[in-house]
Amino acid sequence: MKRFFSVHDCADIHALIDKALIYKKHPFADDDAGKRKTLGLVFFNSSLRTRLSTQKAAHNLGLNTMIINAGTESWKMEFEDGSIMGGTTVEHIKEGAAVLGEYCDIIGVRSFAELQNREKDYSEEIFHKIEHYSQRPTISLESATRHPLQSLTDMITIREIMGEKKPRIVLTWAPHPKALPQAVANSFLEWSKVYGADITITHPEGYELSDEFAADIPIEYNQEKALEGADIVYAKNWSAYHEYGAVIKSDREWIINAEKMSLTHNGALLHCLPTRRNYELADNVLDSPSSYVIRQASNRVWAAQAVLSDILHSQDMR
Ligand code: CP
Repeated sequence: MKRFFSVHDCADIHALIDKALIYKKHPFADDDAGKRKTLGLVFFNSSLRTRLSTQKAAHNLGLNTMIINAGTESWKMEFEDGSIMGGTTVEHIKEGAAVLGEYCDIIGVRSFAELQNREKDYSEEIFHKIEHYSQRPTISLESATRHPLQSLTDMITIREIMGEKKPRIVLTWAPHPKALPQAVANSFLEWSKVYGADITITHPEGYELSDEFAADIPIEYNQEKALEGADIVYAKNWSAYHEYGAVIKSDREWIINAEKMSLTHNGALLHCLPTRRNYELADNVLDSPSSYVIRQASNRVWAAQAVLSDILHSQDMR
């Protein structure tokens, strides 16, 4: 693997899941792979899980890590080509990313959608420019449209729960007080399709996702009907794609609680976290055996370790 931006960068996701599960059993089996190499992690947005799990994974492989909170700890970056930089931006990405590439062997980038301009967000300018100007293998720590390390973790967790059985998954929209990007939902769909799951989406009307991710996946606008017989319930909020970034309505009745989980086939609840308790997910499901969210967060380490290992073992990195 030379980069990790989407599911399409993985030759075989089931082999990657197998590799992650081997690392889960034997975390230090490959602790020389990253010896004398450095992973640089650049965060344009906040993080708990991605930041810590990726560092832990890197250290298990013997990699050094350097982290920067871009914009607050480093200079405010300019991304526009030909910009006359007389305003608030101090350093152009052409120099900024090139310098990162001098210090780091692999670069990880988190940059969320700004939800102002759909074409700009969906062009993935920030990720692509950092990859291009750093000239280093670059991994997404959640970009404007996708969160592949989260999705790989989700697939690892589904494999642990379901074994080889084909899962019946429901991706359900859940309420949230703020407008959130579509990245986690987009990415989850993209990975679920390649995994080979039977998947249905449920959300209030107006929250239809981009055809790039959701085409051919059935939508059931009645949440309770959608949940009937589900093995896996993946709950997540997202703002509107078509009326870009809008919170069309808060629809608090879309909360996932124990009563709704009882409609499922003894279903397992997954959520990427963080979650707003009793707004998005109720205490009576988060604190129940149906919730796999902590296992899921724990698996972030093994997902990151499998991806970093694949890059370190690729021909170009030796
Ligand atoms: N799920 C996830 O990406 O968590 P963080 O935002 O805390 O990294």
